Amino acid sequence: MKAAVFNQFGGAEIMEIKRVPVPNLEKNQIRIKVMAAGLQPVDVKIRSGFFKDMVIDSPQLLGNEFSGIVVEVGSDVISVSKGDHVIGWTTLSAHAEYVVINANQVVKKPSHMSWEEAGALSASGQTALMALDGIHISNGDTLLIHAAAGGVGTMAVQLARSRGIKVIGTSSEANHDYLRRLGAIPIKYGDDLVDNVKKLVPEGVDAALDAAGPEALYASIKLVSSNDRIITTASRHLIEKTGVKTVVGERTQARLYQLTQLVEEGLLQVYVRKAFDLEDAVEAHREVETGHGHGKVVFTINQ
Ligand SMILES: NC(=O)c1ccc[n+]([C@@H]2O[C@H](COP(=O)([O-])OP(=O)(O)OC[C@H]3O[C@@H](n4cnc5c(N)ncnc54)[C@H](OP(=O)(O)O)[C@@H]3O)[C@@H](O)[C@H]2O)c1
Repeated sequence: MKAAVFNQFGGAEIMEIKRVPVPNLEKNQIRIKVMAAGLQPVDVKIRSGFFKDMVIDSPQLLGNEFSGIVVEVGSDVISVSKGDHVIGWTTLSAHAEYVVINANQVVKKPSHMSWEEAGALSASGQTALMALDGIHISNGDTLLIHAAAGGVGTMAVQLARSRGIKVIGTSSEANHDYLRRLGAIPIKYGDDLVDNVKKLVPEGVDAALDAAGPEALYASIKLVSSNDRIITTASRHLIEKTGVKTVVGERTQARLYQLTQLVEEGLLQVYVRKAFDLEDAVEAHREVETGHGHGKVVFTINQ
């Protein structure tokens, strides 16, 4: 099968298409023809060598989320059938024509979602859901979300709004209309952020999600009274020093199902910023590496 791979750490230009073996199928597993797969910051970080001690394969595949069609089921599998349209997660293997995973790593795809939208739901969706649960937000709270227009932020804004939370979201001005459409009150990130948030919500913010980086984390510490109501997906190296939380826990089928139910109810939507063919992996990696723009970057595969 075709896969987007790299052989040693480096820039986006090292991504190439190679033919690799389709993985074997165990009794409790399913084989899926991938139709679309999201590209996350973690994929480009792995490729760049950001995780210094990480041992990689040669060739190394990437990709943790996908949508696709079940083409084969193991003999012990009863929950999924050949031909099902599914959304799922995997570990560093989705940017390829086929994935083989345990049958409990997929849920049914809502029929109105495009393959691309569905292929980009799991990672940011599950992360955002875990983040909101980690800071115990509830109806009536005001939540500050940094990088609100990004993959995680887009999900977190909508999930919080669906729970009756007032959301202040940071982005560049280019994404302010987008944030308003999601239901957030937009605010520009930068030097004056803390003062501007205080002016915007004199009553204060109850909790914060940092999906942007250390500056955003330290701004949150100045704005939220208790550090255990601040959670970061972008500054994990600072959690011990600051006492804020980070997202911990595994991806689960129950959580992914919860996300698809919200999609069915019209409370959650995946926004695809740009879709690339697998052959254009170099450009796709460069797009994510800009660190700007709204929604998700996705590969279209087998279509
Ligand atoms: N995606 C996941 O499932 C996941 C899981 C765990 C951890 N994480 C981590 O969480 C972080 C966010 O991930 P993501 O997928 O949301 O990334 P992303 O989609 O690439 O985020 C891009 C967003 O960041 C915003 N941004 C850039 N600089 C900013 C700043 N200084 N202040 C505030 N916002 C800024 C951009 O807004 P403008 O375009 O308006 O500048 C853009 O909308 C990353 O560090 C990632 O590794 C992600």
